Amino acid sequence: MALFGSSTRAVPPTSALPAHVAIIMDGNGRWAQKRFLPRVAGHKAGLDAVRAVVRGCAERGIGHLTLFAFSSENWRRPADEVGFLTRLFLSTLDREVDRLHKNSVRFRAIGATEAFGADIHQRLLDAQTLTAGNTGLTLTVAANYGGRWDILQAVEKARLAGHTGTLDEATLAAHLSMADAPEPDLFVRTGGEARISNFLLWQLAYTELYFTDTLWPDFDDAALTEALASYARRERRFGRTSEQLNGAD
Ligand code: IPE
Ligand code: IPE
Ligand code: MG
Repeated sequence: MALFGSSTRAVPPTSALPAHVAIIMDGNGRWAQKRFLPRVAGHKAGLDAVRAVVRGCAERGIGHLTLFAFSSENWRRPADEVGFLTRLFLSTLDREVDRLHKNSVRFRAIGATEAFGADIHQRLLDAQTLTAGNTGLTLTVAANYGGRWDILQAVEKARLAGHTGTLDEATLAAHLSMADAPEPDLFVRTGGEARISNFLLWQLAYTELYFTDTLWPDFDDAALTEALASYARRERRFGRTSEQLNGAD
């Protein structure tokens, strides 16, 4: 099925595909600086990579894609960059939500998004309502999100739901922001840094990590193919031995 227009790419076997890919889209500023452009030009250019990855995941039949768009720490950036990112977020929602809906994408947002103001918060709610019944790719955008915040809000929600005493893993996990999604199988970080930067701390416990020097605006379908190929070569043992997994033990 050719979503978002036509495509000639060969689709890998489903068994080797992650059900959930989570991406830290990093390197926009450096992409721009390399071209003697202002950092914000990199954020704008990064939108093309977002479109390519959404389309690439949808076409491959990947169930969930989670994109880190703005961390709870990114407020520490210069006010004009934060302002630009906020405006870009708003205009992107206005421009892209209908197209996502037409392509059966279920849109979700996680994070304390009220902090972006009433306009963005309302558009996020509207986009979620509009696309709630879609059965294609679930696209989750993490904005004003932090992994520590997520764990704390889950504890608080569990407490408000009446849980007293010792909290177990399943109860806490049921109150995390993406409780209805499988934990990510593949984590991708572009831009060359090998860190998690307060992204999905709880959910990444057994995720396969993939780091690439490619800067986010350069992350195209070939780069996604490479990340997926790396994932397909991994042996996920979840604490067991290789022999156990291969039936020899
Ligand atoms: C990621 O790119 C985008 C956001 C954090 C919003 P950066 O802006 O962090 O780009 P670099 O890492 O400075 O190159
Ligand atoms: C992580 O990138 C957050 C997003 C991509 C949204 P940063 O560029 O903010 O991460 P650090 O500060 O280098 O760890
Ligand atoms: Mg960065």
